[in-house]
Amino acid sequence: MNKVLVTGGTGYIGSHTVVELINAGYETVIVDNLSNSELFILDRIEQITGVKPKFYQIDLCEREKVVELFKAEGNIDAVIHFAAFKAVGESVKEPLKYFRNNNLSLINLLEVMSEVNVNNVVFSSSATVYGQPDVLPATESTPFQKALSAYGSTKQMGEEMLEKVSAATAIKSIALRYFNPVGAHKSALIGELPVGIPNNLMPFVTQTGIGKREQLTIFGADYSTPDGTCIRDYIHVVDLAKAHVKACERLLQGKAEESYEVFNLGTGKGTTVLEIVNAFEKVTGQTLKYKIGERRVGDVESLYAETKLANNKLGWKAELGLDEMLSSAWAWEVKLHEGIVNA
Ligand code: NAD
Ligand code: WQD
Repeated sequence: MNKVLVTGGTGYIGSHTVVELINAGYETVIVDNLSNSELFILDRIEQITGVKPKFYQIDLCEREKVVELFKAEGNIDAVIHFAAFKAVGESVKEPLKYFRNNNLSLINLLEVMSEVNVNNVVFSSSATVYGQPDVLPATESTPFQKALSAYGSTKQMGEEMLEKVSAATAIKSIALRYFNPVGAHKSALIGELPVGIPNNLMPFVTQTGIGKREQLTIFGADYSTPDGTCIRDYIHVVDLAKAHVKACERLLQGKAEESYEVFNLGTGKGTTVLEIVNAFEKVTGQTLKYKIGERRVGDVESLYAETKLANNKLGWKAELGLDEMLSSAWAWEVKLHEGIVNA
């Protein structure tokens, strides 16, 4: 049984990925400092899969702890590195917090992996590296644009670090560029746990639907899109999780064609904010209160993925549609509201 170390594994995307790894027959070990997640997620993973993953509460910025972890675990076959801070707005205000956490954790991980001869790593990148491309859909060779946030810089730098380290060492890496991950596991036992007022659209929509927020503000309706609102490529978190299993398989079966590879993870389909609102109302039967507000600084007008590379080389394709994204996000919000999740 191959053993995969999942950093940030109690977080939103990490926890869904641990479930899919266990379902696919992998042994998983989670490392997380719980800075943005909670311990009860481990019990939820056990409820879903019947397996409670081994857990280390460690900050990856503490190099000695990372060394101890790899020594204690022994034969790790691959690492999936989710651990990072991800709040774009906060990263503009506190850039060093992001450079320190996101870059130092990756440097520590790669150094220690090299030392102990663990040579496969999958990295969480983001479609934010593209900014607003001149041509859509964005392909993996669409050039990076100057990052508008420190968060975006850390993803660009992370990718560059991996490319160069993989060229110079035995490490093989795959960077996965996520478009807009939404939704929750169908059990509604795990999902996104936003802290405070959500910045992202989907948790804001579900929190407004449940009455936790008064109304949604749509950030601009004067864009050059069919209904004037921004276009994004929303992808179900379970589809995203399954792509990580494929990426691990590719590395472990020696199928990677380059020492560093990159894949877009999206559906390839663009959806406007208003389409999300309408679909939410249709799927949940709720009426969503919203108003049109000003554009949000830093937003791009339209971004969606070309997914052929992941389809052909990873053998992965997004299977779940907008209805499943919205209904699962809603089911999770309802459970959160009932207080069942933290019980
Ligand atoms: P999340 O915050 O739910 O999960 C990240 C986890 O990493 C958290 O559990 C947190 O406690 C942990 N962590 C952070 N810093 C750590 C450190 N120094 N040491 C140990 N643990 C640490 O976020 P997520 O939405 O699951 O995102 C996972 C990854 O995917 C991140 O790298 C994020 O940048 C990237 N990503 C997310 C999105 C998105 O919209 N959610 C989009 C593109 C890329
Ligand atoms: C989606 C759309 C908003 C909230 C961000 C990061 C990106 C990646 C994913 C990590 C936009 C609109 C939103 C609201 C709104 N994360 N919106 N009212 O900005 O595409 O991407 O998350 O890597 O790096 O930048 O996602 O969910 O914030 O916004 O109208 O209250 O919803 O303007 O058009 P975004 P989002």
